[in-house]
Amino acid sequence: MKATATAPSNIAFIKYWGKKDKDLRLPTNGSISVNLDKLITTTTVAFDQELRQDEVIINGKQSDKDSQRVTKHLDRVRKLSKLLFKARVESQNSFPTEGGLASSASGFAALAVASAKAAGLSLSEKELSILARLGSGSACRSIPDGFVEWLEGDDSDSSYAVSLYPHSYWDLSIVVAIVEAKEKEVSSTEGQERIDSNPFFPVRLRKMSQKISALKQSIENKDFTRFGEMVEAEALELHAMAFTSKHAIIYWLPATISLIRTIQTMRKQGLEAYFTIDAGPHVHVICRTQDEKRVFERLKFLEGVQDVVINKPAVGARLAKEHLF
Ligand code: DP6
Repeated sequence: MKATATAPSNIAFIKYWGKKDKDLRLPTNGSISVNLDKLITTTTVAFDQELRQDEVIINGKQSDKDSQRVTKHLDRVRKLSKLLFKARVESQNSFPTEGGLASSASGFAALAVASAKAAGLSLSEKELSILARLGSGSACRSIPDGFVEWLEGDDSDSSYAVSLYPHSYWDLSIVVAIVEAKEKEVSSTEGQERIDSNPFFPVRLRKMSQKISALKQSIENKDFTRFGEMVEAEALELHAMAFTSKHAIIYWLPATISLIRTIQTMRKQGLEAYFTIDAGPHVHVICRTQDEKRVFERLKFLEGVQDVVINKPAVGARLAKEHLF
């Protein structure tokens, strides 16, 4: 009744921002991402009849806010498996979470795989992706391998992620510049709720299926320039949505803007790299693997940049042999 899983974080090329069903976490549009090999969550789950309540420890600390969301997730697994026992959950991230670097994707993907196994369920990749989605939408994309598409769907069973290509398909690197952040950001769950009244949102959605097809085509052709330009435009569009929501959200910090400018300058100088940014100040820079060291050197000493982590595309969530406790 104990199992451990690892799951990668993922970065979206086409973003999930908006839900048509909040409880089921059904997105208003499909999205596309790649898994990241250095931003990993490892989670051990043990169901235990001696426990009187679930115990949740994340990065060595107990947190009430995270515990509630984890318990809700365990309740789904208990319902599926008809198990009544409470569980102990321990989770460890390979990257800093305080600064707002997305951890819910890798966190809920690892939790889905570990808890399903510990409860004796044997779920397909699709079922695991659906289970992960119910915990945090973007987590469904951390289940399959490599380059991934989340199919929007119109109910819980039809909204899940599939692998488009394995991690080894394209020699890309994703260089993540972690920006020093003090203030707590608006969570991506709350940020998405503010989109409802945004007059620009319907315009975004109208072009979405065409955008998804064009991006998939650029991946199929390995057309890096076309791909990179679309990924950047999509990131800016997501932030334009955040800026123009009724209670504006500005996720960027001064270092975010210096990173954007640096990437634009690098391109003018012949070093081809493109940025994307999620619901936070950190910047994911995508380049060809042969250029990753040069990109790393350019970003590392920028003011306000705390750390730079070079990632490669990665496999999805997996069971692991060694437990955390
Ligand atoms: C900007 O998956 O964190 O990273 O379903 O409410 O947990 P919830 O949202 P979450 O949103 C991620 C938003 C994003 C874009 C993306 O990953 O597609």
